[in-house]
Amino acid sequence: MPMIVGFGEALSVRARARDLETMRTLLVPSEGLRLLDLGGSIRFQEGHAESIPFPDDSFDRVTAVVSFHHMADQKQALAEIRRVLKGSGRLVLFELPPSRAPGPLMQWIAGYRHGGYMAFHGPDDLLEQVRAAGFRDAATRRGVSGYFVVGTK
Ligand SMILES: C[S@@+](CC[C@H](N)C(=O)[O-])C[C@H]1O[C@@H](n2cnc3c(N)ncnc32)[C@H](O)[C@@H]1O
Repeated sequence: MPMIVGFGEALSVRARARDLETMRTLLVPSEGLRLLDLGGSIRFQEGHAESIPFPDDSFDRVTAVVSFHHMADQKQALAEIRRVLKGSGRLVLFELPPSRAPGPLMQWIAGYRHGGYMAFHGPDDLLEQVRAAGFRDAATRRGVSGYFVVGTK
């Protein structure tokens, strides 16, 4: 089973690699920038997006790559993201639309791997949520394997 799961995840990461250039464009990386990747793996910090273990105004960028749909309280997660962003800091979400949501078997596997909750939204719906959370200049951008939603604190 772990081999099958690993193979499936390797394929999905490979598919997403085509979106990395867009991700880089949207994140505008620069020297000394503080970036928080929710649900990522550069340096592990245990916690939940709904209660981010960092003080207010900590980061220049917050991103979540195919992680947002796992967050059980997405409104609270967006409020927390906004709280830990510095003034004019930028949110970059990369998500899958409902049409690309995994089928029941993959949902079961993903639930087992990443926690049970999953709620997928289309770009317009997620854009509305980001706006409602108080982000300005919110916009969507089409990716290859999913879509991006960006917003500024
Ligand atoms: C499909 S994986 C994506 C991992 C990685 N971002 C990538 O692109 O390969 C989903 C991730 O969301 C994380 N996750 C689930 N619920 C979360 C929450 N409430 N807050 C933050 N991360 C969460 C899981 O632990 C998992 O690492």
